[in-house]
Amino acid sequence: MSQIVLGIETSCDETSVAIYDGVNVLSHITHSQIANHQSFGGVLPELASRLHIEYITRVIEEALDKATLSLEDIDAFAVTRGPGLMGSLHIGLLAAKTLAFIYDKPLVCVHHLAAHIEAGHFVKPLQYPYLSLLVSGGHTELIEVSGINTYVIIGKTRDDAVGESYDKVARMLDIGYPGGPTLDRLASLGQPIYPLPTPLKHEGLDFSYSGLKTHVFHLIESLKEKEPSFKVENVAASFQKVAIDILFEKALKAFYLKPYHHLVIGGGVSANSYLRKKAMMLCESLSIDIVIPPLWACTDNGAMIALLGHKLWLQGIHSPLDVGADPQWSIENL
Ligand code: KG4
Ligand code: ZN
Repeated sequence: MSQIVLGIETSCDETSVAIYDGVNVLSHITHSQIANHQSFGGVLPELASRLHIEYITRVIEEALDKATLSLEDIDAFAVTRGPGLMGSLHIGLLAAKTLAFIYDKPLVCVHHLAAHIEAGHFVKPLQYPYLSLLVSGGHTELIEVSGINTYVIIGKTRDDAVGESYDKVARMLDIGYPGGPTLDRLASLGQPIYPLPTPLKHEGLDFSYSGLKTHVFHLIESLKEKEPSFKVENVAASFQKVAIDILFEKALKAFYLKPYHHLVIGGGVSANSYLRKKAMMLCESLSIDIVIPPLWACTDNGAMIALLGHKLWLQGIHSPLDVGADPQWSIENL
């Protein structure tokens, strides 16, 4: 008999719930708050919490309806405990705890970034050890994954995250929020004709995106002056080439240090079309097994929480009902 896990994700601005039976995602419902935060140019934490409160019950109900299940059919409740926005995390955790208490089922706390990484299991079963490149709005890290709940960071950004740099450059180009997907689309229509320096090119496995962002700022300012009819698509393509190429350069450097089975890329930026194209090319030309979750599992979603929650629960890992949210939860401390 299959074991059914309901996963809840509310770490930022998506209220997302999925039901997973260990093989299939039976339902997956996401309420995105993007439209509500757009006019602020970023996520407003208080508003995010209030919207999670408003939507969490209906999203859970819709997920159950779609899977034609009721709460009595759920064997465990998995939820994002951190990292993320305190208020947002709190709402999801409170919902999961309440359900676990009422239905007397285990509560499984899931690390948001670990879930982004393990979303690679939606593509195929992954073998440990593998190397992960985590690229999201708040994180840019190379992580060695040697087993369930065993993550070691071997490289990380010294300042901005890559997703954050996409969002900031998008703001400079005045193309709206969230910047990543729009910048990605614009870049695909342009050419990388402007040279930009590659940050920390020859230095270990760490990344840096703050300097690149500043170079793009100066580039835009000088173009506005000297070439007012410049194409934003070319600026977008020039930024994107440097921002993504360096990810692969460092990831490949790390990949050859040990006999890893795969390079698994996860987090919101793994939805990027240039990154995905480049990964496919490298897979073929270097015979490396690069795994990227399907597009629907790249940005924040309840399915990755249900998937990792299911794995943890099968290992007997669950939490007491008095556990609190942890906005700063380290992936090395699970
Ligand atoms: O993982 P995620 O959904 O949330 C966090 O945990 O941070 O990642 C969000 C980040 C944002 O910075 C967003 O701009 C970026 O992922 N992103 C993209 C794309 N889609 C989302 N960046 C580049 N290209 C995309 N297609
Ligand atoms: Zn995320």
